[in-house]
Amino acid sequence: MKTIFSGVQPTGVITLGNYLGAFKQFPKFQDEGNAIYCIVDQHAITVQQDPKELQENIRKLAATYLATGIDPNKSTLFIQSEVPAHAQAGWMMQCVASMGELERMTQFKDKSTGKESVNAALLTYPPLMAADILLYNTTIVPVGEDQKQHLELTRDLAERFNKRYGKTLVVPEIYLPKEGARIKSLQEPTKKMSKSDPNTKATIKLLDTPKQIEKKIKSAVTDSEGIVTFDAENKPGVANLLTIESAISGVAIDDLVAKYAGLGYGAFKAGVAEAVIADLTPVQERFNELIDSPELDRILDEGAEKANAIASATVKRMERAMGLGRQR
Ligand code: TYM
Repeated sequence: MKTIFSGVQPTGVITLGNYLGAFKQFPKFQDEGNAIYCIVDQHAITVQQDPKELQENIRKLAATYLATGIDPNKSTLFIQSEVPAHAQAGWMMQCVASMGELERMTQFKDKSTGKESVNAALLTYPPLMAADILLYNTTIVPVGEDQKQHLELTRDLAERFNKRYGKTLVVPEIYLPKEGARIKSLQEPTKKMSKSDPNTKATIKLLDTPKQIEKKIKSAVTDSEGIVTFDAENKPGVANLLTIESAISGVAIDDLVAKYAGLGYGAFKAGVAEAVIADLTPVQERFNELIDSPELDRILDEGAEKANAIASATVKRMERAMGLGRQR
């Protein structure tokens, strides 16, 4: 039986990168095994958050999971801080991780380089992420490519724990989508599309209006060649737009290249925008229905209860293996 686990931070903006790399992948796992999805609010506070905004963002993220196809009758959806086992197991994983390997994480380096002072938790973020995954005996973790290094560390920590304390944890596999694992900025197509990009034209947001989406795709950086072919190295802007359309529509890149043969970038961009708008419009409609619904709280309550049952059993096993507390 497969167990699928993934998490997203409730940090406000959800981008087309998050959508294609993560949310769009999630629903298909619901019929493949035990699917568990988490709102990782404890990860979000590694960067200082406004408490009121964080509350709103947690709710928005819950509505996003549901609007993008998570069925609470099939999957477990819960908030990380409502399951105390995450912090408990996170501490145990910190005790298994070394400073050196945490300092080598590229996300830590990106977020800390040049800063006078950063929160300690920015360094210890990956052991908490490992705990999230390992608590559920997870076999598959669907994520975007930027999380690959964290997943490799998770596997290393699980193996190290098992070697030191006896076989306790399941070593998970990463799942990367075929297209969409690394959606790039529309303005600098060699960089990842990121929610923190100060250039607002670089990032499509899940809740952007059709007009905004059209405008951003129209002004996406391409090249002067005017021919739609897939060449990630020499034509990264065109390659990124082809990847976006392919990931959103499920049409293979080769078929899209054939579709746009002989047409200029104007028609190409209009086609990409049309595909994005057609896919996001029903998601936005469902999101607006869900965001103020009391249903959301019931789903999150049930999710926390189900998650607590599994996670607290794993914490007990881990504590027993490490010799913590009184072993009775
Ligand atoms: P977060 O919240 O930054 O991103 C959520 C998901 O979106 C993916 N993603 C992208 N995929 C493709 N192209 C992009 N440009 C792009 N930008 C973001 C991310 O890879 C991710 O899958 N550390 C995690 C949250 C986390 C987690 C976990 C994930 C905490 N515990 C356990 C999986 C399992 C993060 O910061 O994701």
